Amino acid sequence: MNIVLLGPPGAGKGTQGERLAQALGIPKLATGDVLRAAVRDGTPRGLEAKGYMDRGDLVPDEVILGIMKEALARPVSANGVVLDGVVRTVPQAEGLTRVLRELGRRVDVVLRFDVDEEELVRRLGSRTVCEQCQTPYTGREPGAGCDKCGGRLVRRRDDEPDAIRTRMRAYQEQTAPVIAWYERAAAQPDGPRLVPVQAEGTVEDVAERVRLAVRG
Ligand code: AP5
Repeated sequence: MNIVLLGPPGAGKGTQGERLAQALGIPKLATGDVLRAAVRDGTPRGLEAKGYMDRGDLVPDEVILGIMKEALARPVSANGVVLDGVVRTVPQAEGLTRVLRELGRRVDVVLRFDVDEEELVRRLGSRTVCEQCQTPYTGREPGAGCDKCGGRLVRRRDDEPDAIRTRMRAYQEQTAPVIAWYERAAAQPDGPRLVPVQAEGTVEDVAERVRLAVRG
């Protein structure tokens, strides 16, 4: 099963994507995580992406399409993948369809995470993430240890107020049209299911809604 998670910054795509991937026994691909690792390792891709990410702008489509292609062709992705934040522009949605088609696969489900904007700002303002495994935490101070891998928790540069505003704007201007694009795709005979998920409440409550949405 190939599952696309769409939603604004802080909607819980990373949190739920990890759980869903574990529950289904398939990998999760998060372009944000791949790009942050590239920045940390100082690779050419990371050097190209860093400025965009620090400001909260989207990284160019060609970079994302390159990551998509590499990751989806890996044998570990053959049974499906949870795509967290991988599709944020219409050209990326078109590119994903093309890449999967070349592999004899398709997008099965698109989950749209809905969260009130005030709640998003509150979540991002109190988030720290593990600099190693990228697990997000709420209400834990930078410098604390990650429960999962023991790595150090840090604040993301793009969780500063200016960058949060830019990310929200990028979502409205560039990613919201992707929802309309998937609505049209869902109306086609072989199209994916597009399912809205009310993504407020406890992490467990949202996980249950995600589970039901995927099951259909
Ligand atoms: P990325 O890392 O994907 O950032 P994002 O989309 O802005 O999403 P976030 O990671 O901020 O939020 P999330 O929805 O994963 O929420 P989380 O689970 O962490 O991308 C970063 C940057 O990379 C982009 O700005 C762009 O520059 C670049 N990029 C990446 N992909 C790209 C693409 N395809 N095209 C172009 N550029 C791309 O949860 C947030 C917080 O809330 C956490 O603290 C969590 O603990 C908490 N939380 C989660 N669920 C709940 C709940 N139910 N109740 C209360 N708190 C909760």
